[in-house]
Amino acid sequence: MNYITQLYDLAKQYRENAYAPYSRFKVGAAIRCGHFFCGGCNVENISYPCGICAEAGAIAALATAGYTNIDEIMIVADTENIIPCGSCLQKISEFGTPDTIIYSADLNGNISTYKLSDLLPHNFNASEVKNA
Ligand code: THU
Repeated sequence: MNYITQLYDLAKQYRENAYAPYSRFKVGAAIRCGHFFCGGCNVENISYPCGICAEAGAIAALATAGYTNIDEIMIVADTENIIPCGSCLQKISEFGTPDTIIYSADLNGNISTYKLSDLLPHNFNASEVKNA
């Protein structure tokens, strides 16, 4: 089974549903946890800071389905090499490991591959929270 193709197709499909009337920049994301796949798209808001990224939507779908592990995540946008924002990298780190794979793809199927640790070498983690 080619997980990359499945993740790409799913993220590209979810991107179509992006609600991005303000930036006009549609993003789709898909997550694999074992054999489970889910995803999300960016959902903007007229109160701009209320908008959510595609990765955040995908992570919400993951948790909603009862899963708490990201094996791989694919981000698709109409640009050469989209890198998740810092906030989303922190969100990915909550459910991933430094070795979690992050794929970045454009609409033509060009895919770049990163590890979470490439993009977020250090995160804020539970050891820094006394009550966690
Ligand atoms: N966006 C994402 O959904 N994911 C990213 O990795 C980067 C940016 C969204 C947020 C906003 O709706 C639009 O792209 C432009 O920043």
